[in-house]
Amino acid sequence: MHQQKEKKYYITTPIYYVNSTPHLGHAYTSIACDVMARFKRLDGYNVYFLTGTDEHGEKVQRSAHKAGMDEQSFVDSLFPAFQNTLRVMNCSNSDFIRTTEKRHADYVKQVWKTMVNNDDIYLGKYAGWYSIRDEAFFSEDEIIDGRSPTGAEVSWIEEESYFFRLSKWQEKLLQLYEAQPDFISPKSRYKETVSFVTNGLHDLSISRTSITWGIPVPGSSKHVMYVWIDALFNYLSALQTDDLYKTFWPCDLHVVGKEILRFHAVYWPAFLMAMGIELPRKIFAHGWLVAGDGQKMSKSIGNVVDPVALCEKVGCDTLRYFFMRNVPFGNDGRYCEKNLILRVNAELVNSIGNLTQRVLSFIYKNLNQQIPTPSTFFEEDRILLNKTYTAIDRIRLAFDQQEIHVGLEVIYQLSNDANVYIDRQAPWNLSKYDMERTQTVLYTLAEVVRIISILLQPFVPTSANRLLQIMGLLEPDIDATSHVLFLNCDEASRLCPGHKICEPTIVFPRLKLD
Ligand code: MSP
Repeated sequence: MHQQKEKKYYITTPIYYVNSTPHLGHAYTSIACDVMARFKRLDGYNVYFLTGTDEHGEKVQRSAHKAGMDEQSFVDSLFPAFQNTLRVMNCSNSDFIRTTEKRHADYVKQVWKTMVNNDDIYLGKYAGWYSIRDEAFFSEDEIIDGRSPTGAEVSWIEEESYFFRLSKWQEKLLQLYEAQPDFISPKSRYKETVSFVTNGLHDLSISRTSITWGIPVPGSSKHVMYVWIDALFNYLSALQTDDLYKTFWPCDLHVVGKEILRFHAVYWPAFLMAMGIELPRKIFAHGWLVAGDGQKMSKSIGNVVDPVALCEKVGCDTLRYFFMRNVPFGNDGRYCEKNLILRVNAELVNSIGNLTQRVLSFIYKNLNQQIPTPSTFFEEDRILLNKTYTAIDRIRLAFDQQEIHVGLEVIYQLSNDANVYIDRQAPWNLSKYDMERTQTVLYTLAEVVRIISILLQPFVPTSANRLLQIMGLLEPDIDATSHVLFLNCDEASRLCPGHKICEPTIVFPRLKLD
């Protein structure tokens, strides 16, 4: 029983605001989560991967009015673009939740009532600095030169509001952070959160009378819920059917951008404690994709790139590779098309693509399309094979810490090592005078290519699937949904001599600079 619970994995993206079409920053979060979801699936876990759209709040209300539409028609017109982006990015989400769905609104209303009954919510009056862009209130000491800490415009607001007794949970939250240092990651974000909570928590305003586009507060005709209490509960409202809650809660990983960490690492656990619901295991805050000038890519700033158009231009796997490889996951990363092309050509094409093409073509052309029979392995063969069979352990350790970039580094290094090995062994010469040794060298290399193809699956699913098809390890599969589990990354699952491969085609085409 215990074991079954351990073998599940529930991962979430934040839900995206639908005040405009999706941009590359959204795609970044989704791709990172998809890579982790696929990784866990391939590692034998029962995975639930949730994403969706955050459709209420002032931002959406304003955008709808600007577009001359009612709010519901406005979000209805935009949310398909978010689903389409996920599809184009090849994201394997299990569900997609919209906060305007009945299942969500019903759940959140129930939560509100429970909190009122437990005296965790009371009616008061709010006065403070509010930023529409951040969807957040700020205290006087957080305002810098008349702007929010993120540089957004703020205005002074006074209104009647319901409050959540956040201050009551300060000690409990600090105890949580102390008992579970891994609750917030990376480490710098953990420290930042602990110091924020240590400085004292005010009760949180959780309703608005100044807007109408939100879930109505039960029993009130003028209040709607503040968008964050509504939005955070999507992680639970999506699990209300088919035993999903029993199977997947608590959530294993909430992945969020660094600017929304506070909502997830402070407010969310406090809400859950108030509800008596088990807490998620980990919140990971990633960095931003920044434009050439260092500014966060954002719709409000207007410096965004369309992910669908970019995918059509460079290919989805290419984009996935670049995003996960460019900077350590957690740091900010500059997006620029030239860097994408240079990196992908240098690594995915010149190293990994070149290796797989050289090895598979040699076997196809010179070894009768069959995996050769190895004889005695030399020291250099054994060193390379040892690195190959232990790669999954190193990647698994990295993924436990969400170090996705390290995973790709391991694969890239392995490919480089194999390229050095192939150049040293020079099978094209060897085959002229020593066929036995040639076969051992090519067997060793075929094993490296097999493992690299398996390991690449979470990152570049379509290309990895094609490689595995060429190797005859997967049936032809137009949708590229079949896969080879990581438990095959060991020596015991090695290729059988005589196994037929298919004719190799270029899997990683070179990108051209405009
Ligand atoms: N709706 C809230 C989240 C509620 S979760 C209960 C929200 N939405 S958002 O659309 O503004 O952002 C969603 C996610 O996209 C966040 O994790 C955010 O960090 C990410 N990104 C938006 N722009 C980004 C970049 N330029 N770079 C990387 N990620 C970015 O916040």
